[in-house]
Amino acid sequence: MPDLSSNTVTLRDVIPSDLDIFFAQQQDPEANHMAAFTSRDPFDRDAFDIHWTKIMSDDTIINKTILYNGQIAGNIAKFTMFNQPEIGYWIGKEFWGKGIATQALAAFLKIVTIRPLYAAAAKDNLGSLRVLQKCGFVITGYDTGFAGARQQEIEEALLELK
Ligand SMILES: CC(C)(COP(=O)(O)OP(=O)(O)OC[C@H]1O[C@@H](n2cnc3c(N)ncnc32)[C@H](O)[C@@H]1OP(=O)(O)O)[C@@H](O)C(=O)NCCC(=O)NCCS
Repeated sequence: MPDLSSNTVTLRDVIPSDLDIFFAQQQDPEANHMAAFTSRDPFDRDAFDIHWTKIMSDDTIINKTILYNGQIAGNIAKFTMFNQPEIGYWIGKEFWGKGIATQALAAFLKIVTIRPLYAAAAKDNLGSLRVLQKCGFVITGYDTGFAGARQQEIEEALLELK
């Protein structure tokens, strides 16, 4: 019998004990460079706690913890940006390259059914763009914005899921 429990990606509600892991995951320099539009200081625990207290008490935001074989691999969220529903996600570096973001987003899109749904990614964040496109998002244009993690203006791709 195949072990059906192996390499399983599941989503569940965020619980407070997840936050230490999310905080550690958000500090990785390569991940910050990729994501580019990140928190001002990924090492600032007070700012992180204020942010998470706010988003976990906001009924319009949906946050889920991504589990990979029961381990906390990252998080995914739907929030409002410029009056539009948008999604974002972050996978801890040790979990990259296993299809986790793609599976997590596909599962999340069954929970978050509002359409159109929007996303944005640095134009050179090829991994994130691939994840989004594999899940049906299409690039609708480009914009420029100040990327805190790179301390410069960069191009960002704007995507939509109809
Ligand atoms: C981008 C990120 C979410 C990808 O997560 P992941 O779980 O490794 O992605 P997957 O394994 O599902 O990969 C999906 C596809 O993207 C490709 N991919 C992943 N990372 C890549 C990279 N750095 N460069 C090029 N392609 C990449 C994979 O090869 C795969 O393509 P395939 O199906 O054609 O083989 C992850 O690296 C991450 O969280 N980075 C930091 C935070 C971030 O950038 N968040 C998104 C902000 S918009």
